[in-house]
Amino acid sequence: MIRTHDCGELTGKDAAKKVKLCGWVASRRDHGDIIFMDLRDKHGITQLVFDPERNAQTHKVAHELRCEYCVKVTGKVASRPEDTINKKLSTGEIEIEVDEVNIFSKARTPPFEIKDDIEVSEEVRLKYRYLDLRRGSMQKKLKIKHTVYKFIADFLDSEGFISVETPMLTKSTPEGARDYLVPARVQNGNFYALPQSPQIFKQLLMVAGIEKYFQIVRCFRDEDLRADRQPEFTQLDLEMSFVEQEDVLDVCEKLFQGMFEKVMGEKLSLPFPKMDHEEAIIKFGSDKPDTRFEVFLHDMTENVKDCGFKVFQSVASSGGKIMALAAPGYGGSSRKEIDDLTSFVGEYGAKGLAYFKVEENEVTSQITKFFTEEELNLFREKTGAKPGDMIFMVADAPDTACEALGALRLKIGKDKGLIDQDKFNFLWIVNFPLFKYNKDDDRWVSEHHPFTSFREEDKEFLKKRELGKVKSLSYDLVLNGSEIGSGSIRIHDREVQREIFDVLGLTDEECDKKFGFLLEAFSYGPPPHGGVAFGLDRLVTLFTKDLSIREVIPFPKTQKGVCPLTGAPSEVDADQLRELGLKLLKKKQ
Ligand code: AMO
Ligand code: AMP
Repeated sequence: MIRTHDCGELTGKDAAKKVKLCGWVASRRDHGDIIFMDLRDKHGITQLVFDPERNAQTHKVAHELRCEYCVKVTGKVASRPEDTINKKLSTGEIEIEVDEVNIFSKARTPPFEIKDDIEVSEEVRLKYRYLDLRRGSMQKKLKIKHTVYKFIADFLDSEGFISVETPMLTKSTPEGARDYLVPARVQNGNFYALPQSPQIFKQLLMVAGIEKYFQIVRCFRDEDLRADRQPEFTQLDLEMSFVEQEDVLDVCEKLFQGMFEKVMGEKLSLPFPKMDHEEAIIKFGSDKPDTRFEVFLHDMTENVKDCGFKVFQSVASSGGKIMALAAPGYGGSSRKEIDDLTSFVGEYGAKGLAYFKVEENEVTSQITKFFTEEELNLFREKTGAKPGDMIFMVADAPDTACEALGALRLKIGKDKGLIDQDKFNFLWIVNFPLFKYNKDDDRWVSEHHPFTSFREEDKEFLKKRELGKVKSLSYDLVLNGSEIGSGSIRIHDREVQREIFDVLGLTDEECDKKFGFLLEAFSYGPPPHGGVAFGLDRLVTLFTKDLSIREVIPFPKTQKGVCPLTGAPSEVDADQLRELGLKLLKKKQ
């Protein structure tokens, strides 16, 4: 046996035992004669004592030991004197009087100290990720992820699901991002795509009669990276046959209740609240509302249709919206602060930010002169503004007005510390529109993906091509303002699926080329089915209260899609390219 115990295990009860421990030198304190060291492994830290009077040779070796050397020590457990007991450590009652030390391997001075709170750039942490992951706080995150994965597998197994794998080298799947392509050597000139999700395969598994499928699976999407987006990330993907929307939501809620209790030690109450997509947009200016604080948007369009302020009037009469919110305590904002907020909403497309300063008996602003007393009062009443607050307003196309003010709402919540960080607000968003209009390309696209089914009562709208009115049978799960999952009941009728492709502008030929195999499968008795996929990196980031999903991914890419550890992506040999039948164009600078 190389070791008898781990570094987090020994207590006063073990005093006088002969033990062998392995680990890394975490710190050393040289007190002239006696040398103290902390030995660290994944379980904890144990103090070592090297006393020249006990063993002169070992004491000499101890002089050579440096931080992060990987060693084995043999010695005797000794109770620490009362006044040197460290209550913060599980092993704080004891220390090891070392008789023998073996060095497994030496270490260069690491680029940063291996401890929980370090101030070092993410680039350096990622370059030396194996050292970064040696830190206790990082090991804890990996453990939480493992606990989540294990809970999912056990729970879904107990509900009758089975895990089935789907290919990584496959055909493009329509989740809306760019594909990562893999050249096929033996099919020269052809490419596989890495899956953006297992969407089509899981539907094929329903045709195959699997009934309850799940998979913890890597997905790949070439899109602009953000704090909550990585080019490869992990989904819990699941799909069920012979179900309605409520059946899927029900399983998911029970899964999250159990998981949350296991990881966070608290029991969530069920069912999770549901909110219509339309309400989310109007009240929160977002399809993933953070409901942890009570500032809401209000639609003032009807109230200012006939007002004297030209900007509002013309927006209202041309189908736009005038949205307002009361910003608590912002009444004293300076000109500069308001200008900054105006630029902030400008980033979301808003052409301006109007405001009313709310005082005891009046509201003041450059533009109050354009409004009647009654109109101004309505702003106060509807937004619930109090003296000391500022009412902010954006007038624009409905989406822009809501989105810009929704972003301002979030900023206010964060800047003013209004968000209760201890809350975990799970929320389903339901009744999404099936399509959204893409102005740039002048065409309708799927709000989710083209396999999403729609409400029976909206069939007529689809027939009459009143596409904006068709509501889908889809649902998103939102946690604290982050979209952690998304799913739907699927179309299982071949002809309906063809019609949707047609609406989306796919010709019959394109349809056959891209999805012919799915449509063909749907000619062999597909069951009604539906499912969902959750972003596990995002979920775990919320559990660990980190700000970026890179914190919970063992080997993530930087914002620029680079792995500082391996240097990927990297150039390849000319021979490799030739074999694949590829020739590079001149590199874009
Ligand atoms: P969707 O595309 O909404 O749905 O993805 C599901 C969930 O995956 C997470 N996610 C991401 N996480 C990290 N980095 C990314 N780049 C990234 N992209 C998505 C999000 C998201 O909610 N096949 C459908 C699901 C279905 O209909 O069953 C799908 O993939 O948390
Ligand atoms: P202006 O008449 O352009 O000087 O604008 C007067 C005030 O209305 C300023 O505070 C502008 O920021 C604001 N404003 C202008 N356009 C909009 C808009 N589309 N929505 C909200 N406020 C606006």
